Amino acid sequence: MDHFLYKNGVLHAEDVPLAEIAEAVGTPVYVYSRATLERHYRVFDEGLASFPKRIVCFAVKANGSLAALAVLAKLGAGADVVSEGEFRRALAAGIPGEKVIFSGVGKTPDEMRFGLEQGVRQFNVESEPELEALNAVAVQRGVKAPVALRMNPDVDAKTHAKISTGKSENKFGIPASQIAEAVRRAAQMPGIRLTGLAMHIGSQLTDLEPFAAAFARMRRMAEDLRAEGISLERLDLGGGLGVPYEGRTNVLPPLPLDYGRVAEAALGDFVRETGAELALEPGRLIAANAGILLSRVVYVKQGEGRRFLILDSAMNDLMRPAMYDAWHDLVPVKEAPLDAPIGPYDVVGPVCETGDRFAEQRPLPPLVAGDLVAFRTAGAYGASMASEYNTRPLVPEVLVDGDRFAVTRPRPTYDEILSRDRIPDWL
Ligand code: LLP
Repeated sequence: MDHFLYKNGVLHAEDVPLAEIAEAVGTPVYVYSRATLERHYRVFDEGLASFPKRIVCFAVKANGSLAALAVLAKLGAGADVVSEGEFRRALAAGIPGEKVIFSGVGKTPDEMRFGLEQGVRQFNVESEPELEALNAVAVQRGVKAPVALRMNPDVDAKTHAKISTGKSENKFGIPASQIAEAVRRAAQMPGIRLTGLAMHIGSQLTDLEPFAAAFARMRRMAEDLRAEGISLERLDLGGGLGVPYEGRTNVLPPLPLDYGRVAEAALGDFVRETGAELALEPGRLIAANAGILLSRVVYVKQGEGRRFLILDSAMNDLMRPAMYDAWHDLVPVKEAPLDAPIGPYDVVGPVCETGDRFAEQRPLPPLVAGDLVAFRTAGAYGASMASEYNTRPLVPEVLVDGDRFAVTRPRPTYDEILSRDRIPDWL
């Protein structure tokens, strides 16, 4: 459920008509709903209610907007980050270092130093060379780095190949067969304090079965370690729960409550017995339906047997369709009459690539130049993956709260864009 609804025939973000935002800020623009962000965080958190010791660390890569992070920080959320930049975003939004989990397969010693300085909750370490590097950094600083080893459970997440991370052929995690050895090595390292195990098997999962299989593997691993006298303070299950992108289908991804039941069945008694904390790293589930990309139709072009809807947003603003053939519902801001004739459009942007296509032969009501349209479910991996390709200004962001809204990231001016470049004086 989200708060982008038609009222009196006009699409609103909460109580703000989207046309008002387009008027004030221009298009394209990302618009986020505070109430939706809050609702999704709460629904997810409540789904895990059977784990009293839990921390929900929002995956900042899904949406790094300081305003969105500040909304979540106020609810008590932690952050899952994969770079110093994301770490700094979390801190700037009011999420303290002790609520930050530092993930990622290629953390540099500088990033490790930064994490330690900020009192990071835990580094999720993905290889023995990384463990050694972290040990060296920690020893140099005279501290012990809290570490969870990310295991690769070799489970097929049954999602898009580019966002599947839990198979042995993926670059992520330490193979389950090597975890015990890595734990032993960690125990001998003076700069490492082993806190637990972590995993993340992929994103946009629409089936609970891979989660169940992966959690069961984590449980087995944790039990084996326990039998060796190694107790774990934390089990980190990663993120990955999918969201509905296509309103026209009735196939809905599992609910957080059902996800919580799967976690409970696999790990509930174990964590209660051992006192371990559960950590979760949802990104998409919290942010996706809390954001839309608002765009304007620039031209409607009749091609040979095809009609192109040319928008002022492009693949650089919302990369998911070009990169993953992802579907995003597209809706007119002015509600179409029920009897409007529906016809196919190829929905494209102005970027000079054939791949700059949001949708092929998409059934839509009649649209004309100047009309406003909204891509739904664009709050996760939308703005955070945007670029200035074709020197298109980075798409701005707006946060709506009831009947008020604020520009939370203004559109850069062309002067700002050009002023970042330098021409060497020897040219
Ligand atoms: N934790 C780790 C270690 C991750 O790598 C990810 C996402 C998450 C948590 C959050 O997963 P989520 O709950 O959002 O599924 N750009 C792609 C998605 C890439 C996801 C990468 N890792 C897309 O637009 O679909």
